[in-house]
Amino acid sequence: MDKLIINGGKPLAGTVTISGAKNSAVALIPAALLADGPVVIENLPRIQDVDIYHELLREMGADVLFEEDWMEIDGRLMKLMLMPNGRIKKLRASYYLWGALLAKFGEAQVGLPGGCDLGPRPVDLHIKGFEAMGAEVENKNGVMTIRAKRGRLQGARIYLDLVSVGATINIMLAASKADGVTIIENAAREPEIVDVATLLNNMGANIKGAGTDVIRVQGVERLRGCRHTIIPDRIEAGTYMIAAAATNGNVLVENVIPKHLESLTAKLREIGAQVMEMDDCIQVMGRDSYRSIDVKTSPYPGFPTDLQQPITTLLTLAKGSSIVTDNIYSSRFRHVDELRRMGATLKVEGRSAVIEGGSKLNGAKVVASDLRAGAALFIAGLATSGTTELEGLEHIDRGYENLVGKLQTLGADVIRVGLQHTESPQR
Ligand code: UD1
Repeated sequence: MDKLIINGGKPLAGTVTISGAKNSAVALIPAALLADGPVVIENLPRIQDVDIYHELLREMGADVLFEEDWMEIDGRLMKLMLMPNGRIKKLRASYYLWGALLAKFGEAQVGLPGGCDLGPRPVDLHIKGFEAMGAEVENKNGVMTIRAKRGRLQGARIYLDLVSVGATINIMLAASKADGVTIIENAAREPEIVDVATLLNNMGANIKGAGTDVIRVQGVERLRGCRHTIIPDRIEAGTYMIAAAATNGNVLVENVIPKHLESLTAKLREIGAQVMEMDDCIQVMGRDSYRSIDVKTSPYPGFPTDLQQPITTLLTLAKGSSIVTDNIYSSRFRHVDELRRMGATLKVEGRSAVIEGGSKLNGAKVVASDLRAGAALFIAGLATSGTTELEGLEHIDRGYENLVGKLQTLGADVIRVGLQHTESPQR
């Protein structure tokens, strides 16, 4: 198995360019299947989740061309087919095939999704939305069969009991070609939702209100091909911002939308880091001592759960006690034991990490149990002066394009070693 060897203790310095957003990419790709013509998606991140989607599309008979950072998708020749487990299980966002196939064929037979183990991750809100639009849903041996009772979904008014990114996008996809108007109330407001609505509207859909908590979708008969450029990945950007602060570095994070990172920027300033926002880049200048703070995650525009684990690492370096509470996922704390191995003082209490900051971290052998736990651990490795060996890279590969290359550009002493090769295979 591959691992990262990090000789930490060097301040990160220089410029890092942020890739397209993972959470947009995995929704835009299935959305593209709805067009009666080719859709070109640009600024795609070269990450494992996108590679898996690429394989899934080919398996389903779509015509796909995947070059550099763009993909041309033509779903016209696709046929409805059973998509049981296999690749579906490797990907949380394979659930977007439910909404996309329902809109395209009036039916979907797709296995339940996989993804990071962050505690219970139900899909009841997705199902509730499809049922409200007139679908029958059956879960047999882990395969969801979802069928529009009248052949085509009907518009409906749907209130989401919890703010859910996945359910909001899935209902938007399904509603884009439904008969009549769908209103999604208490919708999630994440920038990736706006990105998906933008693509669908450019394909000829009629979606209003994406980015607010009420989205109105007037179904249309046909959608057409178009070109679309993905927004920058705010979570990748946030990870490098935190890494810059944790190493007392000076990093210009470019190709970002600073507005998407306001909650993190505010927290970094609160602990004492210097953060400067420009048009499409953010500069973070660290310092050698930080104030402790509390952080609570919440849906956008609140502090993202996907940066909860990375900021926990940073707060282990701050003086005094901090509490990081995850209001979205109750068990997203598997990085905590690993951080303790590295000398940090923190414990889990309920859905919070309680941190006694200020301990000096040491290098250790640690394992990433999920994607953002991996981010928390490579940041810790970069911040300590010892050597860290980080395993579990299959999780990190799901979400960080060319991680080793980007960190090396910032002056980090990091290599990827494995049985097959000694350098990062990342493209
Ligand atoms: C998306 C992101 C993920 C991020 C998460 C929260 C993608 C591919 N992934 O995941 O990176 O961490 O948003 O910002 O975009 N819930 C239910 N029932 C449902 C759906 C969700 O109870 O049917 C709960 C979840 O367990 C969670 C909360 O609602 O506690 C929010 O989850 P949701 O926004 O749906 O997360 P995902 O879309 O899966």
